[in-house]
Amino acid sequence: MKKTLSLTMLALSMLAAVSSARAQDAQPGDAAAGQKKAAMCIGCHGIPGYRASFPEVYSVPMISGQGGKYITAALNAYRKGERKHPTMRGISGSLTDQDIADLSAYYQGNAVAKPAAAAPAAPDAKVAELLQKGNCASCHGEGLNKPIDPSYPKLAGQHADYLLVALKSYKVEGNANVGRANAIMGAQVKAYSNAELKLMAKYIGSLPGDLQVVPNAKLR
Ligand code: HEC
Ligand code: HEC
Repeated sequence: MKKTLSLTMLALSMLAAVSSARAQDAQPGDAAAGQKKAAMCIGCHGIPGYRASFPEVYSVPMISGQGGKYITAALNAYRKGERKHPTMRGISGSLTDQDIADLSAYYQGNAVAKPAAAAPAAPDAKVAELLQKGNCASCHGEGLNKPIDPSYPKLAGQHADYLLVALKSYKVEGNANVGRANAIMGAQVKAYSNAELKLMAKYIGSLPGDLQVVPNAKLR
């Protein structure tokens, strides 16, 4: 817990530097500029196995290899308060549109090549039925790794404990610090018990996909 807190402080102290570069109009994302700005992200997103402790203990999501348009959408949702997670709200609130464009370009492109993945294991009958009921692949795409819209997330291989926290958060209403106000996913998750969400999260986390943690040791 102590580690989480000191990294939060470190991240917050770095915000001042970035905000001073506030741009008027966002240009297309520049991955090299994004790499420098990612100094305030790697303390959490660049440490393999790193865990957050609020609202429960779970792995910090992998964002390397995630779609840039989705990263932008997610950061904007925290910035606007549609996603309530307090730390990510604080961090995104200090970012300009240009910072978000640069960070999105950087994280979309910084995944390192992986050997071709084995074909995904078929879900058991129960999980198959749950995924079918919500038609998850109709939006999150083949293998839940090829979203039909670039502003939708890749899910395959994401940490299962994070996926569960994310899914449950779409159910929460009227809490100042927990919840996500996305209408599409809000409607989806209400059709499932938390035990069913957990079964899906576990299976989705086991699928081969593009998401990774890139420690970025070169960055100082
Ligand atoms: C103190 C730790 C911490 C720092 C620093 C941090 N994040 Fe996060 N980030 C998290 C946690 C925890 C979550 C999950 C929040 C939630 O449950 O909604 C998250 C979520 C995200 C998401 C949403 C992922 C998804 O799959 O929806 C994005 C995008 C993101 N962070 C980008 C960044 C960027 C870019 C930076 C640096 C500017 C950054 N974060 C800094 C801890 C951190
Ligand atoms: C109609 C399109 C659609 C369908 C169907 C759909 N999703 Fe989503 N999903 C989305 C969108 C859009 C988001 C991003 C929401 C946001 O910005 O918070 C999302 C977000 C998520 C997230 C959060 C990912 C992250 O990185 O934080 C999870 C987990 C998820 N969906 C799982 C599922 C599962 C499981 C199903 C099937 C039961 C499903 N989705 C069905 C469109 C869809």
